[in-house]
Amino acid sequence: MSKSDKSSGRTVFVCQECGRESLKWLGRCPDCQQWNSFVETVVRAPVASARPIAQVTPPQELSRVVIEAADRTPMPLAEFNRVLGGGLVAGSLVLISGDPGIGKSTLLLQASASMAHNRNRVVYASGEETVHQIKLRAERLGLTGDGLYLMAETDLEAILNQAEQLTPGLVVIDSIQTVYFSELEATPGSVGQVRECTLRLMQWAKLRGVPVFITGHVTKEGAIAGPRVLEHIVDVVLYLEGEPFSAYRLLRSVKNRFGSTNEVGVFEMKEAGLVEVENPSQAFLSQRGLEAIGSAVVPTLEGSRPLLVEIQALTTPTSFGLPRRTANGVDFNRLLLVTAVLTKRVGLRLGNQDIMVNVTGGLRVGEPAADLGMALAIASSFRDTGVDPGLAVVGEVGLSGELRAASQLERRLTEVARLGFKRCIIPQAGPKVTPPRDIDIIPVGTLREAVSRGLVRKKTTG
Ligand SMILES: Nc1ncnc2c1ncn2[C@@H]1O[C@H](COP(=O)(O)OP(=O)(O)O)[C@@H](O)[C@H]1O
Ligand SMILES: [Mg+2]
Ligand SMILES: [Zn+2]
Repeated sequence: MSKSDKSSGRTVFVCQECGRESLKWLGRCPDCQQWNSFVETVVRAPVASARPIAQVTPPQELSRVVIEAADRTPMPLAEFNRVLGGGLVAGSLVLISGDPGIGKSTLLLQASASMAHNRNRVVYASGEETVHQIKLRAERLGLTGDGLYLMAETDLEAILNQAEQLTPGLVVIDSIQTVYFSELEATPGSVGQVRECTLRLMQWAKLRGVPVFITGHVTKEGAIAGPRVLEHIVDVVLYLEGEPFSAYRLLRSVKNRFGSTNEVGVFEMKEAGLVEVENPSQAFLSQRGLEAIGSAVVPTLEGSRPLLVEIQALTTPTSFGLPRRTANGVDFNRLLLVTAVLTKRVGLRLGNQDIMVNVTGGLRVGEPAADLGMALAIASSFRDTGVDPGLAVVGEVGLSGELRAASQLERRLTEVARLGFKRCIIPQAGPKVTPPRDIDIIPVGTLREAVSRGLVRKKTTG
């Protein structure tokens, strides 16, 4: 690697994953273990002091600090509000990240248009689309644009200058990977630019008390492109998720300095944009047949919110080679574990079966409390026997075939009852629960017992 000295500044190598700096090029980052992540970057000497925009605030005596009732602006979309913890806090910097095409720009354009009016201007700066393209999208979404100011601009200072003049109530930057700070020679999207721009936006938001939204793309590995540092700087991190083939979108809060994390909001992508799903459990179960072979309903918990999901399984004899396992929406390793326990402790001969598991609606279920649902769906498909249609199940499966406690059972049971299910198999282990009135709980100790209680009795023929 040849390195010519540049007279205008020093060069450093910066890890594009985590932001670690090094004077030499390194093949592997000692901090985040990423290979080939170092990129040479020219730093013009004292960038940080180039143009300070934060005022110095004198220290305040603790007893004199006044707690203002958090200055929250409610967002017009209730599901968005829920995820933000009840509204948008003044001066907060909110990152919305997700795969390309998932709907980040759509969501923010909708939110901007609905918050904007002539007394509350919104600046929407896009480095991804032209003003013309944004207008076309707005027309498709049926949005008018009073008070909404569009800029196709990537120079951060230019954007902030405009924002200073328009004195908006909200600023949107789509996306953080396309903007740049001109005093830095690194390319837009590099860790140096992303970090500097984010820091500057943070300072500006705090200084003016104006909330700022930024979007960020996600790389294949699932991290926000380039830097982890981004997540550390901003106040709130939201993920917009969904499977490409499904119209459902989950907005999840993974960091929130002003509210609880792990809240989710559920939307559906339609021609007219993202529409709130008011009764998600019902939406996810709406296509469930009564036969219910290879299908189990599980009350999962998304943050504080219980969601009923349907887990489906299909077992078919392996035609050649090794049996295959396919997991859509559930953790692959949990599938292997559950399959092993079903084989060894329940006596199902799954060794020569291909097994496919799917969560309907394109949802992803991460928690082990969904194990029992997966197990019951597999057992049902394998035995070709229906699952009791009025039944929901919840519980983690342990290696010796025992059922382990699930958290916040009462919340889950309330949702089960609300959607008209009559019975719920729960783990015997764990604290005692008082179920809602119109539902019977079936406490069960082992997976074997759960399978025999959960499947409808098959009429013996012949
Ligand atoms: N004409 C259309 N009708 C319905 N949905 C559309 C239309 N055009 C785009 N979409 C939806 O909008 C999505 C693009 O959303 P967008 O907000 O641009 O995503 P992101 O900003 O996250 O990359 C597409 O994946 C598609 O689902
Ligand atoms: Mg976009
Ligand atoms: Zn690194």
